[in-house]
Amino acid sequence: KWTRNIASNTSQQPPPFAFVFDIDGVLLRGRDVLPAAKRALNILEGDNVLRKKIPYILLTNGGGVGEHERCEKLSAQLGLPISTSQYCQAHTILKKFSHKYADKPVLVLGGKLDTVRKVAHGYASSPQPICYADIPRLQDMAIKRPSPLWTSLRGNLQYGLSTHFQMRKSELRWYGPRATATPQFTIFQPVDFSKTPISAIFVYHDPRNWALDVQVACDVIQSGGIIGGPYVNLKDQDEPVELIFCNPDLLWKSDFDRPRLGQGAFKAAFQAVFQAVIGSEYPHVQFGKPTEATYEFAEELLKVRVQEMYGSSTRLSPHIYMVGDNPESDIAGANSAEWSSVLVRTGVYEPSHGPPPHLPTHYADDVEEAVKWAVDREM
Ligand code: G3P
Ligand code: MG
Repeated sequence: KWTRNIASNTSQQPPPFAFVFDIDGVLLRGRDVLPAAKRALNILEGDNVLRKKIPYILLTNGGGVGEHERCEKLSAQLGLPISTSQYCQAHTILKKFSHKYADKPVLVLGGKLDTVRKVAHGYASSPQPICYADIPRLQDMAIKRPSPLWTSLRGNLQYGLSTHFQMRKSELRWYGPRATATPQFTIFQPVDFSKTPISAIFVYHDPRNWALDVQVACDVIQSGGIIGGPYVNLKDQDEPVELIFCNPDLLWKSDFDRPRLGQGAFKAAFQAVFQAVIGSEYPHVQFGKPTEATYEFAEELLKVRVQEMYGSSTRLSPHIYMVGDNPESDIAGANSAEWSSVLVRTGVYEPSHGPPPHLPTHYADDVEEAVKWAVDREM
């Protein structure tokens, strides 16, 4: 069936179905490409009985770099072009909300801070004419030695991290190159953080230094967003600091033998500490799979992708197949969104541990088998 050529089926109507792929544990494991990934995507690129391109997007809870940069890397890894119009990572959805934070400083945490800060700035300046007024860098709060920003803030910042929580030079390597006051970031300079509260903390990606990030988040929240300011009882704060996490994954597969702790584990650690200190968890907003907001965002992206491929007059809402490795995120979200779901055995899901907490429409050994099953089903 896979080599059969249906010559009559060559109209420019899109197929009535489309795919959403998880990345880690489905297409890649850590940095390694899973062999079935290229074969699966080639089927969608036209090597199928329909002789048509079948639309697909990638939906990952990963992040920490810009979409453009990640798509370039994925294209090289997978050997076919992956466009930003078919790519959604954990924090891509924040583009939709950046207008809420125009003229308000926000704190970004996670990953290589300099890279993540640039991603946040990118969301703010395009395509909406709004911007984050400032994104103070945790790195600059956390180190001892003076930097242009540190020097400019030192007068009013007086950030009291204990030496224990200050990073060593070697640790700084994880955080990317030392930023200097490059032109696009000089907006830091005029902000007086003793008077201008941080309005929100965004955890873009998995933090590298949990202790430091938990400490900073606890401080910023308890002082009502004023860095180094006195603590204010949470009940008495008029505008409490918002806390936003972008990836709820407790575990992910990566390239190690056993699953690795994800951003969800950091959230659990933060909330446990916050509860121990304050007596209750801190209210937060969660994005990423399996949240409804992220699945709605992905569905919109997929519709636009179909129009890009088959013409802007296309109004079709395709039947969506989600191929994922994590029952708690990929499968749970797909089931709630009323998509079909395929759980593969190349990632987090461990069949020997019994049935998964969220049952998929179908199981497959790998992504190629998943795609073949779905395409067959649609014939
Ligand atoms: O940090 C990434 C991880 O939590 C999951 O990635 O592609 O499986 O959603 P993915
Ligand atoms: Mg995965």
